[in-house]
Order: sequence, then structure tokens, then C-alpha cells
Amino acid sequence: MTKHIFRTKSISEFISETKQDGGMNRVLGTFGLTMLGIGAIVGTGIFVLTGVAAANYSGPALIISFIIAALACGCAALCYAEFAAMVPVAGSAYTYGYVALGEFWAWVIGWDLILEYAFAVSAVAIGWSGYFNNILTNLGIVLPKALTLAPYDGGIVNLPAVLILCVIAFINIHGVRQSATVNNIIVAIKLAVVALFLALGFSHVDAANWVPFMPYGWSGVFAGASIIFFAYIGFDAVSTAAEEVKNPQKDLPRGIILSLIICTVLYIAVSAVLTGMVPYLEFKTTAAPVAFALQAVGYHWGAAAISVGAICGLTSVLLVMSFGQSRVLFVMSRDGLLPKFFGHVHPKYKTPARSSLLVCVVTAITAGFLPINIVAEMTNIGTLCAFIIVSAAVIVLRKKNPNQERAFKCPLVPLVPLLAIAFCGVLIYMLPLVTQIRFVVWLLLGLAIYFGYGYNHSIISQARRGQLGAAPVPGAVAPAEQAAQEGHPANH
Ligand code: ALA
Repeated sequence: MTKHIFRTKSISEFISETKQDGGMNRVLGTFGLTMLGIGAIVGTGIFVLTGVAAANYSGPALIISFIIAALACGCAALCYAEFAAMVPVAGSAYTYGYVALGEFWAWVIGWDLILEYAFAVSAVAIGWSGYFNNILTNLGIVLPKALTLAPYDGGIVNLPAVLILCVIAFINIHGVRQSATVNNIIVAIKLAVVALFLALGFSHVDAANWVPFMPYGWSGVFAGASIIFFAYIGFDAVSTAAEEVKNPQKDLPRGIILSLIICTVLYIAVSAVLTGMVPYLEFKTTAAPVAFALQAVGYHWGAAAISVGAICGLTSVLLVMSFGQSRVLFVMSRDGLLPKFFGHVHPKYKTPARSSLLVCVVTAITAGFLPINIVAEMTNIGTLCAFIIVSAAVIVLRKKNPNQERAFKCPLVPLVPLLAIAFCGVLIYMLPLVTQIRFVVWLLLGLAIYFGYGYNHSIISQARRGQLGAAPVPGAVAPAEQAAQEGHPANH
């Protein structure tokens, strides 16, 4: 059994599979991908969680928390970029795991990504609902609490969160061209309001607000980093669009790295200005810290503009994350680890419409009925775990398959992947114990599904038992032959 669960798939097998069924539309370039990345990255983290982290963990040293989280993400992003250019397939980290570490680890990563995307989408929808209610309240419209809060927070269902998820699913099902255009417009608005905040807030920075700089010490700074790590999640979603990219070898690494660099610069600037404008403890009282800070220095119109921009920003995060989720399910289904239902491509829209619909149902239930903190922490731990496995996979594949063409190479291997593993490990350690326990339960559930379904149904398992049709896929190469071409023994 051990031999079978570590069976790998070759890179060209994956690439040839993307050409079956006509594949998806290839419409995205570096610009579209970078916008997709920023669309996924700038959201609840900067608009909501900055205040939580500054008030409760980091204090004015929030900027250091952002730098620590950026270092973890930067190292992981270089690893992602190497794989994305080498294996431009929609499954992202899941596919990288399959190529480098075998089916079992691929499943573990895929299972983590399902957690990451589903919970991120739910957390952001909850944040969206908060800003939406805030705007309605300012307009004099007050929705009943029963319909705007989860049961845990004193309501019945978070209805705005559920409704926005239905709108997002509709857009994604209708095709990437439409999604990418909508995304570009929204990202432009989002960047404009962040720039507005910096321009208005800069002259109101009072250095006295930066003292004491680290009120909760270094442990507070690291705990803050483990929370605001959420703000960076999303650059990895760029790689799930691989099968819709015109020139993936070039565009994917650029899209991943550019979107992360742009967001890191913005975050560092926003966190410095934000903590300089208002004493950090005042953020305890607000769920909209960026608008709150502008209001505190008298820019009420600026605060209103930020709220509208935040709604746009959160909407684009929802678009990209739900997009990524359905693509991961699509590829896992194509490999037989999940039922065929998830791999079905809509004949007219050329999108994995059924998995998009399922993602909508699951995330709507989570967002409608769970509190934001549980959902955000689960997102972080799932993502950190996936980053660790991808970074390890870079080291493994460099050893196992050194001659494979790599259009982009992560620098200083194994140092950079090892640093990514160390940073992500520390951030996992800093998350609350209850979150770590919930994550172990999630992993155990995933193992039960793998051994109950995926282990027997996976394409390579069926091929081994001779259950697949005899007709080979045009352009595909038999795994053993492929392995020989790539200079390593077939591992199945
Ligand atoms: N990085 C994304 C956000 O902050 C998930 O909303």
C-alpha cells in the first residue's frame, strides 16, 4: 500500500490532460493574472483584521507582523512560482504535490486547499456583510440582527453573506472573460481607495501613537503575524488559473511575484499610517479600522469612500477565491480523487459550473452560520500547511528530477524553501491550540475520504488495475514511458 499511495504522475501527463475535452478558454496574460492576484489578496486582512491584530497582539509593531508574514509568503511564493511555470495546471499546489511527492501528499494538499479557499471565501463574505450593513446603517436602513449575524453572534443567519456568495457563483459560472473584466474594474477601485487612505492619512500621522511600539512584546508581534497572514492569502490562487493563461511559463511566475510585491508594499504603508493616526487600543472598538481612522481625524467623506472601496475589494477577493476553489476541485476530480461531478466542464460557458455551484452552497452555509474568527483561523492553518508541503516539494523534485526544464527557478534552493517551511511552521505554532486541534480533525476526515474513495478511484489506481479504456489520450505518454523519458523510475 505504501508504494501505491506515493505513486506520482508525470508533468507531461498532467499537461496533456489539460488538452482533453477542449479545455478552458486561454484569455489571461501577466496583467490579468497580477490583477487576479491583487483581487484575491487585498481584502478582509487589510480592511478588517489590521485593527484586531494591532489592538490585541502587535500594537504599533503591526508593521513588523506584516513583514514577518510577508517573509513567509515571499519564500513560499518563489516555490509556487517554480512549480507554476513547470506544471501550468489548474490544480495549483495539489498538482505540484502529485508530481513531486505522490498521490497521498497531493490529496493532503488538495484537502488543505479546499479548506483554504472555502473558509477564506466564507470569512470574506462575513466581512463583506459587515461593511454592507455599515453602509446601510449610515443610509438609515437597519436590517434585523437575526438576518445579519450567525447564531454564535446572536443572530439566525448572515443573509447578506449568503446572497453575495450566490452573486459570485453566478459570475464565475458565466465564464472567465467576464470574471476577469469585472475583477480588473474592481481591483482598480480597490487600489484607488487604498491610495486615497494613504494620501489623506499620511499628514495625520502622530509619532506619539507609535509609543510603546511593542506593547505585547515579540510574542504579540508573532501572534499578530499569524492572524494578519490572512491578508496575504490569495497570491497562490493565481496559479489555479493556469489553464486559462496564454503563456503560463512566463506569465504565472510574474503574476504570482508581482501581485505579492505590490500588496506587501501597500500593507506596510497602510499599517504604518494606520497605527500612526490612532492609538492602537482604539481599534478594539471597530470592525472597520481603515474607515474608522479616517473618521477619527475628521474625513467623513473619506471614510464613506473607503467603505465603498472595501466592499469592492472584498467582492474581488470572493471572485478569485471561489474561482480557485472550483478549479482545484475540477483537477482533483479529473485525477479520480473526487467524483466526476466536480470535473464536468459546462459545454457553453467552458467553466466547471457544477463545482462552482457546490462551492457556493458549502461556503454559503459556512458564512451564514459560523463566526468570522473561527473561519479566518482555519483558513490560515490550511494555507500554511499547503505552503509547507509545496516548499518541501521543490526540494524533493530538484533531487528527484534535476533535468526537468524549469522556466522559473526558485533562488538558493534548499535555503529559500527551508526558510518558507520554518516561517510557516512558526506561524502555525502561534495560532490558538483550538484551531490546531480543529485542523487535525479536518486532516483525519480527509484521510478517511482518501482511503474510502480516492485511493481506489484515482486514475492511476484504475490504470494499474487495467480498468481504464484502452484508447490512449492523443498526445499523452504512458506513465512508465514518461518516467523513463524524464530520467526517474516509474513510481506506481
Ligand atoms: N487575503 C485575502 C483577504 O485579506 C484573503 O481578504
